[in-house]
Amino acid sequence: MAEIKFNVNGKPQAVNVSPAMPLLWVLRDTLGMTGTKFGCGMALCGACTVHLNGQAIRSCITPVSSIAGKNITTIEGLSPDSTHAVQRAWLENDVPQCGYCQSGQIMAAASLLAKKSKPSDADIDEVMKGNLCRCGTYQGIRAAIHRASEILTASNGAANKGGVA
Ligand code: FES
Ligand code: FES
Repeated sequence: MAEIKFNVNGKPQAVNVSPAMPLLWVLRDTLGMTGTKFGCGMALCGACTVHLNGQAIRSCITPVSSIAGKNITTIEGLSPDSTHAVQRAWLENDVPQCGYCQSGQIMAAASLLAKKSKPSDADIDEVMKGNLCRCGTYQGIRAAIHRASEILTASNGAANKGGVA
């Protein structure tokens, strides 16, 4: 056991766990944040996707010791009130079916849009291919990512206009 300190959704956390424990279990079992899901435990499905310093990672294969001092964002912290452009677009497009894979899908999509604000279908497919959905919501996900891109562009335009005025 060892004390490991890191930030989750902007809050400092200190956990006393085995350094090899996967971040996913620390989030779910130690910190009680169950929005991040367990699917395969082998980096094959994307259900456990969170952000490490803004990059999408698979928390099921990330030893908690490797994130000491770093910033983790989970679905619970993507926005304070579920108004992140990706969350808004997901709701508008009614993407989820059973919902199980969706926090991972949303985190992967948010990471993609942070890097590339206007992704093509090919960009989306390339990044999202590692996030599996047994309900087959892939078309809805792709459409919602395009919609989130529009929302981001519109809000950036409004912010820029505000800055000029
Ligand atoms: S649970 Fe981590 S990729 Fe499947
Ligand atoms: S919505 Fe059911 S697994 Fe994706």
